[in-house]
Amino acid sequence: MSQPPYTPGDSPLVREALSSVVSRETAPSTPVSIGYLPSRQDGDWPRPPRQRIITIANQKGGVGKTTTAVNLAAGLSMHGQRVLVVDLDPQGNASTALSVEHRGDIPSVYQVLVEDMALRDIVSPVPDMPNLYCAPATIGLAGAEIELVSLVAREARLKRALEAFDSIELDYILIDCPPSLGLLTVNAMVAAEEVLIPIQCEYYALEGVSQLLQNVELVRVHLNQSLRVSTILLTMYDGRTRLASQVADEVRSHFGESVLDTVIPRSVRVSEAPSYGQSVLTYDAGSSGAMAYMDAAREIAFRGAAVSGK
Ligand SMILES: Nc1ncnc2c1ncn2[C@@H]1O[C@H](COP(=O)(O)OP(=O)(O)O)[C@@H](O)[C@H]1O
Ligand SMILES: [Mg+2]
Repeated sequence: MSQPPYTPGDSPLVREALSSVVSRETAPSTPVSIGYLPSRQDGDWPRPPRQRIITIANQKGGVGKTTTAVNLAAGLSMHGQRVLVVDLDPQGNASTALSVEHRGDIPSVYQVLVEDMALRDIVSPVPDMPNLYCAPATIGLAGAEIELVSLVAREARLKRALEAFDSIELDYILIDCPPSLGLLTVNAMVAAEEVLIPIQCEYYALEGVSQLLQNVELVRVHLNQSLRVSTILLTMYDGRTRLASQVADEVRSHFGESVLDTVIPRSVRVSEAPSYGQSVLTYDAGSSGAMAYMDAAREIAFRGAAVSGK
């Protein structure tokens, strides 16, 4: 690549992010630590002063959105937080990983968004995980991208449904987005105050992030002034490659404090857990992936007071 791939309308942040893709090969590399916070913080974590709604978005597929939604939710719930995962991806991978039924004929987020069903009628408790709940997605949700277009308040339907949900006093709502920037993701961004972007530590890591940031900005300006990118999480970090540490360094230098200290390593256990209908935290609590997701959840909980107060 000889020319930076940005266009004249891009914001300075976007340009920076994109030019970093270009300059990656020449960037200085410093070691990235996969740090664990002290275990004295294990017990119940402080509840946020008010409910936090976090949209987990990146229009690239396979960067760890669903894995992050499920495992952060599990980690938070295991430390006394009441957490709802909203599965907004028609593939229903978060529902699968949480062992929540999502066959085609059961009521799901589709009915909530398109048919005005109450969220309380589709939310299920997650088996064996007190404090954790899931609003499942079914494959029919794929049609919602089109069907929403003609509906009233099409961008704010999830927000409305979440506001009307009063069955459980939730501390966190984590919204797992599909790999696109369509109306489902816009609904997630309108409903939330925070966006968490998982970034995979690989060569094209920042490709597409500029477009995502532009969309966050568009939603902020036109639809939801309180929206901001609060958190960036580096995922699938492979400590054996120099490239992974270079990508991590560059993401940190461009996004600063919003990047969690914790980096999620690539770990077979993480990828195995969903096929057992489990988070990695319950599937193999001692694995590197489980410990890292627990640390990431802890960081989010402890940064919470400052973040939520803004
Ligand atoms: N830290 C990790 N180590 C190993 N495999 C992972 C890790 N994170 C995610 N995966 C696997 O990578 C694939 C894509 O992850 P997923 O969370 O489904 O991404 P997305 O939701 O962004 O499409 C899945 O098969 C998942 O199990
Ligand atoms: Mg996914």
